[in-house]
Amino acid sequence: MRIGVLTGGGDCPGLNAVIRAVVRKGITHHGYEFVGFRDGWRGPLDGDARQLDIQAVRGILPRGGTILGSSRTNPLKVEGGLERIEANLQKLGVDALVAIGGEDTLGVAPRLHQEGFRVVGVPKTIDNDLSATDYTFGFDTAVNIATEAIDRLHTTAESHHRVLIVEVMGRHAGWIALHAGMAGGANVILIPEVPFDIEQVSAWIESRFRTNYSPIVVVAEGATPKEGTMALQSGELDAFGHVRLGGIGDLLAKEVEKRTGKEARTTVLGHIQRGGTPTAFDRWLATRFGLHAIDAVSDGAWGSMVALRGTEIVRVALSDATTQLKLVPPELYEEAQVFFG
Ligand code: F6P
Repeated sequence: MRIGVLTGGGDCPGLNAVIRAVVRKGITHHGYEFVGFRDGWRGPLDGDARQLDIQAVRGILPRGGTILGSSRTNPLKVEGGLERIEANLQKLGVDALVAIGGEDTLGVAPRLHQEGFRVVGVPKTIDNDLSATDYTFGFDTAVNIATEAIDRLHTTAESHHRVLIVEVMGRHAGWIALHAGMAGGANVILIPEVPFDIEQVSAWIESRFRTNYSPIVVVAEGATPKEGTMALQSGELDAFGHVRLGGIGDLLAKEVEKRTGKEARTTVLGHIQRGGTPTAFDRWLATRFGLHAIDAVSDGAWGSMVALRGTEIVRVALSDATTQLKLVPPELYEEAQVFFG
């Protein structure tokens, strides 16, 4: 069997570990051949592929990013997109696909499966917001990078008696903000799931200054103020209809300065959270996902996605995996509030 592999959506530490595990086990245990499609769904759409053999995946386990490239191309938005993909797969002699992606990339996979194509999914996102799996690889790396940044910012905040705001990724879900904020001892954590009250945020900040400490505010990029309390800026949309985020940290800094009279500065971690080498946990999870994904191919479990449940890797239907986001539950956010202010 000849199998195509693709990585779509935002890059994520651990993608290369999945590719390596899929290819290594696929060749040595199952005798498959592999091609890697370039740049997510753009690869099969344009028939852009490269040979993937054991030599091609040597040394990539600790490497961030993806050797295959990625994109946010949505073939469902391209006229005749699915037909083009099917024709290219046939031309290249590809019998099945392993698609590694988040809600958008894997949202396309069930459509291909419905059309009768053989596809298996591997979940990835630093946001950790896919409901079918307890964890996605990339999340642990992002949390560790953000925590280290918060640790470093504490000393500057205290030396200069400033409010330091750290904007982290998290479009719909505040998992990175919550985990890194708790691990880094933030005084306020703001997440997309719970609209914030700027007056309350300012009160927490003032209370922290009264105890002679300088506050660190961790804000997820998708966090929003309660309606009518602060003006927001709007951004352009990508092919999946998502607005390009970024900027809530700066807005927050202006409002906080106005209300508290304290200097407030923002650090936007941005793509640093997705870059560089994956943590040991992410390499371990990504490798296991890859090993189980190629077993799913060998079992003919088409239309399934591998997922982590506790310490077990299980298979779930791709169609269920992407329909609901895993958001931070209110009780978990309440736990963290003991440390606010
Ligand atoms: O989905 C992962 C993610 O890193 C989100 O946290 C973030 O909103 C988005 O991707 C950013 O995407 P891009 O790098 O394409 O701007």
